[in-house]
Amino acid sequence: MDNLKTTTREIEEKLHIELAAVTTVEMIEHIHTQFLGRKGLVGQLNEQLKNCTVEQKRVFGPLIQQLRLQAEMAINQKRELIQTAERQNAVEKNRYFDVTLERNEGRLAGSLHPITLAQQEIEDIFAQLGFLIERGPEVETDFYNFEALNIDKDHPARDAHDTFWLNLPNRLLRTHTSNAQIHTMTKQKPPLAIVSTGRVFRNEATDASHDFQFFQCEALLIDQQVSVANLLYIIRHMLRSFFQHDALEIRVRPGYFPFVEPGLEVDASCPFCKDGCSVCKKTGWIELGGAGLVHPNVLRACSIDPEAYSGCAFGFGLSRLVMLKYGINDVRYLHSPKIEILSQCNRLIL
Ligand code: DAH
Repeated sequence: MDNLKTTTREIEEKLHIELAAVTTVEMIEHIHTQFLGRKGLVGQLNEQLKNCTVEQKRVFGPLIQQLRLQAEMAINQKRELIQTAERQNAVEKNRYFDVTLERNEGRLAGSLHPITLAQQEIEDIFAQLGFLIERGPEVETDFYNFEALNIDKDHPARDAHDTFWLNLPNRLLRTHTSNAQIHTMTKQKPPLAIVSTGRVFRNEATDASHDFQFFQCEALLIDQQVSVANLLYIIRHMLRSFFQHDALEIRVRPGYFPFVEPGLEVDASCPFCKDGCSVCKKTGWIELGGAGLVHPNVLRACSIDPEAYSGCAFGFGLSRLVMLKYGINDVRYLHSPKIEILSQCNRLIL
């Protein structure tokens, strides 16, 4: 019986210790269940009482009842104390709530993606030269992506393109924006001048400078007597405008692309340094992509007479231009949600 008496006292002490540590209403409710709930500590005492004699019940019954009442009172008091404190805290917080306050960081919301900005800038530059904007499809057929561009079935150049073939007959994700050239030339009669920017896909491993998807920009000019001089002027004009750098120069090296003859690799003088920096790897030059005079076979595939017309074209890595312009050192950031990258062009669109 002493046992029961000791337990009653222990429960009372435990309750006071636990209540002293309580700081939230949730904690109070937890204690309430622990002590006074259906299977709580006080309830367990009542269970033990069932095995006692009538004499013992007369002594311990009221003791347990008293414990229950005291516990209820103590818990209620503590609950009220905490609720009052919580209410006061809320009032205190709201006292300094200024509904007219402006949040400065709100101004940074909603900038265009660096790629979108570059697409718009390049399209503007070419629109001013009288070029039309053409957007070729991303899902393409073999004809527009390869065949009409003079890359036939077993041409080794196909291997370099690491194509994503789709589970649809003769459908692939375009490997370059040069498909836009064919869409234009098969639909419209020369003279033609178009610029085309967009996403392209290559089934290859990714690293800081390679991705399975990236952006290119392409231009095509078809007219009578188009020459390499026209091509070089257009490229230099575009790069000078894009980098806002009047002294930027370009240089060309021979390059091989089946859809142009001659084919050229184009480099730009580094827009960021005079005698070598980390961007141009101390060479002073930056590789941009390919260019050349449109191959007669390409003109023929689009029913344009190569005796009457000639053309020039180039295709550059737009992702690369964006990385250079904004100092982004990993191409994969361009399609990650990294806010530092997205917000650095921070033009407000409202
Ligand atoms: N399509 C080529 C590529 O993705 C780049 C290219 C080279 C485009 C020469 C052109 C060109 O228009 O004339 O590698």
